[in-house]
Parts: sequence; C-alpha cells; structure tokens
Amino acid sequence: MTMMIQPIQPGFVGVVTGIDICQPITAKQVAEIERGMDSLAVLSFPNQPLTDDQQVTFSANFGELEIPLAAQMMAPEKRRFQKIELGDISNFDGKNTDRLRDREDSRRMYALANRLWHSDASFRAVGAGYTLLHSRVNPTKGGNTEFADMRAAYDALDSATKALVDDMIVGHSIVYSREQIGFEVKDDGNPDNLRPVKHRLVVTHPVTGRKSLYLSSHIGEIDGWLVPEARAFLRDLTEHATQPQFVYSHKWAVNDMVMWDNRTVMHRATRFDDLKERRDLRRTSIKGVGLAIDHVPAQQAAE
Ligand code: OGA
Ligand code: MN
Repeated sequence: MTMMIQPIQPGFVGVVTGIDICQPITAKQVAEIERGMDSLAVLSFPNQPLTDDQQVTFSANFGELEIPLAAQMMAPEKRRFQKIELGDISNFDGKNTDRLRDREDSRRMYALANRLWHSDASFRAVGAGYTLLHSRVNPTKGGNTEFADMRAAYDALDSATKALVDDMIVGHSIVYSREQIGFEVKDDGNPDNLRPVKHRLVVTHPVTGRKSLYLSSHIGEIDGWLVPEARAFLRDLTEHATQPQFVYSHKWAVNDMVMWDNRTVMHRATRFDDLKERRDLRRTSIKGVGLAIDHVPAQQAAE
C-alpha cells in the first residue's frame, strides 16, 4: 500500500489514500503527512473507521494534544466522553445519542458560534496547530465544514493593506466570538480563560516561510485602534479572506477524517436542522507550538 496525496483544490486541499490510519503508522508516513500539510493545508482521509482511542493515537503522532476549553469549562457529569482531549462536536444531549440538545441548551448556543469563520483555540497563548475531525453521523442536508486559505488571502491583499497588517497585533478572546452571536460566556471561576491574548495578525509559516493571515472571529481588538475601527476593519478583512476562490466546502461522509492547519486556515460549520437531525463528529487538536513565536506576551504587548 503506497500513500498518495491527490490535490483536489490545488495548493490547498488534498485527499489521502493508501494508508490505514486506524493502525499505528511509521515515522516516514508521519513526515509525509506533515509535508502534505505544509504544502497544502487541508487533508482529507476517506473511509477511516476510527475508534475514539485510535483517533487520539493517530493525532498524537503530530504533537501534544490540547484540552478543549469547552470540555475544560464543562461540569464533568455533562461531558459525553471520558477522554478530555476528545472534543464532542455533536448536537446530542449527552450519553443518550437519540436525544438532541434543547433549543435553549447553553452547549448548543456555544457551538452555534462554530458557524463564524475561526481558527481553533486562537484565544489561547498557544492556539491549535492541526485540528482533526472525524465524522460519525451526518444530517441529510447541510452541516458541511468550510475552509478558507489564509496564505492565498494574504497574498491577494494590495500592498498598502499588507503594509498596514504586517506588524499588527490583535487581541483574541472566546468572549468576542460568542458576543457576535449574542451569547454571553459565563466565567467558570477562572477569568484567565476569558482574558484576551495577543497575537500577530500576520504569521510566517516556520517551514515554508509563507505569510498567512492569522484571522479568527475570536479577534475583537487591534492594538492602538479604537474598538469600532478595529471591528469594522476585521469585518472587511474577513470578507476579503473568505471569498469563494479561497474556500473549500467539505461535504462529510461517515468515517471521513479531515485535518487542517489552524495557522494557515480558517474554518466554519454550515447550517443544518440541529433540532431535528443528528450530527456527530469527534475532534482532536494539536498544540500549535510553531506559532508560539507569534504570541505577544502581555508585558511586551503593553509597551
Ligand atoms: C470545530 C469546528 C466545524 C463543524 O470542531 O472546531 O469548528 O463543521 N467544527 O462542526
Ligand atoms: Mn473550530
């Protein structure tokens, strides 16, 4: 069996075949996948019937797994999975997977913000590197995941805008993305989780040297700008960066595993009838240590 990566959106998305990721893979295969992620940014692995444990094992080939903030902030009895590294991207009420979340369920409100373009965990000092999403149940209509190429979006900016954003420092917080959909994130007693963190808006890929917009709906402020100025500008920039020529829309089939690099890609969920139809995906994310260089520590940011 020879692993192959077939680009389906040139320079951006590839389909990987000739590998069984349910089984342990070799260091050579890990390196090959990483190379694919560097040159493209989204890889799809069809027909991979991963168990939860196998997903965690496969993901750990690429670095340290992060603990999702949603799981961290949720009371343990409310969590669907024992493994805290495994993100529950479903609309199920809990362990009974036939019962869907109520309309007013706060977990539903929180998850609705996945419909905004974002980069996973960008509100953390070290955001996510790769995210891996595995499909178990899909609705009959909608519920795609869309991806936007932030390197192509940066390249397409005019030179004046490039100059404006090149050294820009912005603040990210989970509060900013949730307030955009009118949902107030409750403090779980640890206000550090909600405090904005600063990142550079333009990041350079450590391997390819390509520049990319590190954009996310978690951003709510730009250093040195008034908030309304910042929000209006970020809206324009997001609109630019998510034009159809930069976007790939993934229609899920059961047992698809899709991985993307949050340092070069934004993503969002598309609508489906989540009060009537079932959807179940499992998520793992790798800490994006390569991007730590682009995090601006609070003290320096204040200067
Ligand atoms: C996520 C996410 C999108 C989707 O899991 O981080 O944004 O389509 N998911 O569910
Ligand atoms: Mn996400």
